[in-house]
Amino acid sequence: MILLGVNIDHAATLRQARYRQVEAGFGGLVEPDPVALAGLCEKAGADGITVHLREDRRHIQDEDVQLLAASKSTRLNLEMACTPAMTVLALKLKPHSVCLVPESREEITTEGGLDVMKHRDKVARVTDAMNAAGIKTSLFIDPDADQIEMAVKLKAPWIELHTGAYANAYHNAGRATEFARLVGGAKQAHASGLVVNAGHGINYVNIAEVRTIPHLHELNIGHSIIARALFTGIDEAVRTMKKLMNP
Ligand code: PXP
Repeated sequence: MILLGVNIDHAATLRQARYRQVEAGFGGLVEPDPVALAGLCEKAGADGITVHLREDRRHIQDEDVQLLAASKSTRLNLEMACTPAMTVLALKLKPHSVCLVPESREEITTEGGLDVMKHRDKVARVTDAMNAAGIKTSLFIDPDADQIEMAVKLKAPWIELHTGAYANAYHNAGRATEFARLVGGAKQAHASGLVVNAGHGINYVNIAEVRTIPHLHELNIGHSIIARALFTGIDEAVRTMKKLMNP
């Protein structure tokens, strides 16, 4: 059974499009409320909730994460940049896991994952702090042999394979190559003892192939689920994705 983490960032994107100027008092008519949405995702079968607290706070806000940490009935996965400020915040909020992601161009590998080779020291500092606090660290990396090897050396228990290049190539000739890279990466990571998650650009069409990547523990999916929910409601959107993941 592959688990589903629902990324609710885009519910906050919608809220911020109208209410960016409102400083306090979320809830009430400040809508949509991503925390309420998270509860509905959990009721529909989500195994975890994922949010990315970006340094520019463009969608999820600190208050959202605090409320989610207190109200979730599943697991909270906090995506964050590899910075001292975010590390302090994560240690305070104690999510079940943190996923270290790139936020600026220079942290990004060619394909778009966090470059853990280039930023080895920075990543090590965060991973060590999380390991000491009992919070799982996941590294959002490309399916690249060197990056995976480095994840093992850094003692991160989890990786999240970046499926964006595959999703972008889905309708062209590069798809088979990108898919083979994901399969190879998953096999290598699993053989090295890492828990293998994946995410970015996964939708209701490409899930039929994504789900066949070996050793998948969890998929983190955001945009396609939130977009579908506009038409079907969040309950159907989550239930259908889970069914497609585990037919
Ligand atoms: N996983 C990570 C690490 C991400 O940064 C994102 C995008 O915020 C996702 C998964 C979800 O991607 P999408 O919104 O394309 O499903």
